[in-house]
Amino acid sequence: CHELDTNFMGRKIEHFDTICSTNDYAKSIASESLDGTIIISEEQTKGKGRLGRQWHSKISEGIWMSAILKPNISPYKAPFITLIAGASIVSALNKLGVNSQIKWPNDIIINNKKVAGILTELSAEIERINYIVLGIGINVKTMEFSQEISEIATSLYKENYRISRVDIVRSIIVEFERLYLDYINKGLKESTLKICREYSAIIGKEIYILQGDSKELVKCIDINDQGNLVIKDNSDKTREIMSGEVSIRGV
Ligand code: BTN
Repeated sequence: CHELDTNFMGRKIEHFDTICSTNDYAKSIASESLDGTIIISEEQTKGKGRLGRQWHSKISEGIWMSAILKPNISPYKAPFITLIAGASIVSALNKLGVNSQIKWPNDIIINNKKVAGILTELSAEIERINYIVLGIGINVKTMEFSQEISEIATSLYKENYRISRVDIVRSIIVEFERLYLDYINKGLKESTLKICREYSAIIGKEIYILQGDSKELVKCIDINDQGNLVIKDNSDKTREIMSGEVSIRGV
């Protein structure tokens, strides 16, 4: 990947003007695609967020992309890939001068508002991953958000950061490959965890943990060596929360 300075990430990049969802398209071609294939679209007509939510993906306003990954690891180790993605986004943005943090495990925020999200979809058998589709959405130029999300969402432009989408994509891909190969080939989590801790938006803070209908106020203590969140609940008991189990809300 000469232009990108990577070994396999982005060795094939498919670019669309419009598509339903880059994640859905990536899933539909994943079995026949090379590891590291990237799908990117100017617009998504049915962009998907987590928990069945809609993801606003207007034309040229952001980075709407998905990567097809085929790591030779146990499916149980897949959730860590989301942390790697978060770490690479936050690290790339901060290198480009954007003061951003990770709200473990899926969101990137600026000034307490969400600027980017990650949607990881896994296809696996008992001990084998068929593929992972890693979807990344970053609001770059959006100035107006719909009423229901305008309080909680932001974009790089709204926060007065004018950076080209190409520079951001390039930087994320390079960063992602480094952290991903550390994990896949060497079993190394430290490089990712260091970034997740350093740029955490929630460590040391009170947060709400939302699970189904329940809402619990806890203190966030750390991200442990497995990548799980360590919290102290209201009876002063320390607990570990796995990603995928919960949603986190600031207080
Ligand atoms: C979230 O925070 O809820 C996750 C948002 C993920 C959005 C991206 S945009 C590219 C990819 N394709 C999709 O349909 N969703 C992801």
